[in-house]
Amino acid sequence: MEDYKELVAAAISAREMAYTPYSKFGVGAALLTKSGKIYKGCNIENATYTPTNCAERTAFFKAVSEGETEFRCIAIVGGKNGGSISELCPPCGVCRQVMMEFCDPESFKIILGKSPDQWEVYTLKELLPLGFSRANLGDKHD
Ligand code: THU
Repeated sequence: MEDYKELVAAAISAREMAYTPYSKFGVGAALLTKSGKIYKGCNIENATYTPTNCAERTAFFKAVSEGETEFRCIAIVGGKNGGSISELCPPCGVCRQVMMEFCDPESFKIILGKSPDQWEVYTLKELLPLGFSRANLGDKHD
């Protein structure tokens, strides 16, 4: 299996910036592009709750807004602030759908980390079976 140590470590460092006054649950993500760049993201909450942005979408939107649209994998870590990460943090449904927009479900990997040496790997297809994409609209990927 590939070594995701560096990517999980980047997700852990991204989590340090999480803005979570309401849930007190910090999440960090590190998205690796096919060109080899890493975009980090954290969750950013809001007093009106709904505008909250997950760490994964922060990473994707940063990357896409800088012209990147080809991705290899994303590492995600999360847990209650102040404690050590003891559980995996699977991406929410909305984030899975955003991944579906840009990533090939068969090859895009989602790495759920606890520490740089402890992680589990899933494909997007495993976490979003029969996902809807622009292909369902009859659009071609370009
Ligand atoms: N959250 C993420 O950032 N990513 C996930 O995949 C799950 C949930 C955030 C949203 C909210 O700020 C906090 O975790 C609790 O739901």
